Amino acid sequence: MEIIKTQVALRDLVTALKNEGKTVGLVPTMGALHNGHLQLVKRCVKENDVCIVSIFVNPTQFNDKNDLAKYPRTLEADAKMLEENNCYAIFAPEVDEIYDSTELNSTFEFDFNGLDKVMEGKFRPGHFNGVVQIVGKLFELSTPDKAYFGEKDFQQLAIIRHMVATKKYPIEIIGCPIVREESGLALSSRNMLLSANEKDIATNIYKTLKESVGFQQIKNVAETIDWVVAKINNIEGLRVEYFEIVNGNTLQSVKDWNDANYIVGCVTVFCGAVRLIDNIQYK
Ligand code: PAF
Repeated sequence: MEIIKTQVALRDLVTALKNEGKTVGLVPTMGALHNGHLQLVKRCVKENDVCIVSIFVNPTQFNDKNDLAKYPRTLEADAKMLEENNCYAIFAPEVDEIYDSTELNSTFEFDFNGLDKVMEGKFRPGHFNGVVQIVGKLFELSTPDKAYFGEKDFQQLAIIRHMVATKKYPIEIIGCPIVREESGLALSSRNMLLSANEKDIATNIYKTLKESVGFQQIKNVAETIDWVVAKINNIEGLRVEYFEIVNGNTLQSVKDWNDANYIVGCVTVFCGAVRLIDNIQYK
């Protein structure tokens, strides 16, 4: 398995592979890999001749500099895990290989058609501009046939699908189900930042979401939102930033369970200082 550091080397590798008639799958990540990422990698390996994983902690998607500084960086362990899982190459560039200073100091403009105005977009202004900026660069450099993303980042997945449609990239976007610990806690690189006690407390996020799925028969949407927020906030150490019940395609809030055929509840919760996200499908 090769570790590639430059854009030129990545382009050369992909060109050579395509000249040999090979299909290429890409798994974009920020590293600190866990079993959730590995499920994406396994699927990518199965469905393509070659699987490339990018590892890049993208500074332009962090609106909080502290969060960027704290983000776990574990390249050596990541590489070992990827080698064991038949990854063909890792693209792990330095920041100055990807961005010039103008890009680093300005916001990347993109028409999100409103998808960035809700949920994560409301609380992390500029976050999705950075996501679209880096994912667009990765797509243009590696020209994959397929690219793999987790459904835990539900809004990110919708935005990437929108970007691919807008830019007419010939790339199939594959969304993969959330991977959970036995306790129900959604796997996330940020879980590494939780103490053992916080990790235990954080299991209440999914427990609460799961319990609320049955509410469609007995509560309306507003009552369900109030119940979920109150239940999580009542647990010491947890604080809900937002919980929204939305149309899974447009990400706009629904008022009634009959407003859409695909309805998802998306939550962000602070467990101590660690910001965790999760979601659940209602229908
Ligand atoms: O989901 C992530 O890890 C990141 O947002 C991504 C897609 C790798 C872009 O930096």
